[in-house]
Amino acid sequence: MSLGMAFWGAGIVAGPHGHAVNATPSVHFAGVYDPDGDRCKTVANELGGQAFDSPEALLASPDVDAVAVLSPNHTHVDVALACLAAGKHVLVEKPIAETHEQLAALDAAARKAGCVCMPAHNYIYHPAVTRAQRLVEQGAFGQIASMWILYNIFHGEDLAQRYGGVLREVCVHHAYSLVYLLGRPKTVSTVASSVHYEKLTCEDMVSITCRMPDDVLANLWCSFAASDPTSDPWTVVYKILGSKGGVVHSWNGAVFDDTRGPGYGFPDYLDGFTEELRFFAEDAIAKGTKPLSGLQEAADAIAIIEAAEASIAAGGRETAVIYKNI
Ligand SMILES: NC(=O)c1ccc[n+]([C@@H]2O[C@H](COP(=O)([O-])OP(=O)(O)OC[C@H]3O[C@@H](n4cnc5c(N)ncnc54)[C@H](O)[C@@H]3O)[C@@H](O)[C@H]2O)c1
Repeated sequence: MSLGMAFWGAGIVAGPHGHAVNATPSVHFAGVYDPDGDRCKTVANELGGQAFDSPEALLASPDVDAVAVLSPNHTHVDVALACLAAGKHVLVEKPIAETHEQLAALDAAARKAGCVCMPAHNYIYHPAVTRAQRLVEQGAFGQIASMWILYNIFHGEDLAQRYGGVLREVCVHHAYSLVYLLGRPKTVSTVASSVHYEKLTCEDMVSITCRMPDDVLANLWCSFAASDPTSDPWTVVYKILGSKGGVVHSWNGAVFDDTRGPGYGFPDYLDGFTEELRFFAEDAIAKGTKPLSGLQEAADAIAIIEAAEASIAAGGRETAVIYKNI
């Protein structure tokens, strides 16, 4: 029987999650709750499920086996805890939590409920990224020297104000990806800037240089300030170079016009959501397989972001990352 999946939140990111549900035969759409009734009905109609008129109705529905938590960042922990208490598995959008303590509470609640609580760390579920990780682990590239994760997707001020600064909002993707591909950095040196906001005071660009325990340097770049329209675009690029070879993954292999949201026109972006959902249903829930990036890796990502914030405050100084196990 296929997994009944509900959405808690019907905003922009419900689009790629809906695409993933439609592309995954082992999952069917059970319904959606959003306090914005119009958005709720639109997504329910598009995906063919129920428009729940309250969180209680969603949680009480026997058709809902699992919930994708797609509401704003500050709601993730409380929503995920409510779902786990009702015996629902949860796939929780990033950043899944703001503190290690919240992640520990989610871990305890998931164990108590016997349910999966999986961070929606979608970028690394793309097959090109899982292959890169496998090849790094096998030593195919020899001694790793350097790594880049680049992100350049323009976000106008109206869109960006929903999210806040790019460090906490987007670089969490960079941080969990780095941990997945190369492990935990020992230090970060970070600078941040803003060039295109008139009202917002947060950063629209950030550059983090991470020093790994073996002195490999990993360079993480994120910008909402400008997209890259050049002939060799750095929209989203992963590159790892070693003594015997290297690997590149770019979202620009296929691109089409789609104005519904940033990223919608990049099939590589959508493929990450689809493979993430397949893994959630068929591996994590059905077989008990550990997520490629779980609650501990979410805690590691928080530790990296916190060190980056401390580095920015210290004028870019190389700053130790302090990890906590949950
Ligand atoms: N993984 C990715 O690539 C990716 C991309 C974009 C956004 N996100 C994340 O997804 C989440 C949502 O982002 P978005 O772009 O869809 O935002 P959005 O502002 O477009 O939509 C948020 C929706 O949540 C609804 N909402 C508010 N409070 C709610 C509550 N308590 N319960 C249910 N719904 C509630 C709002 O009415 C709105 O429809 C954020 O955490 C964001 O960081 C992830």
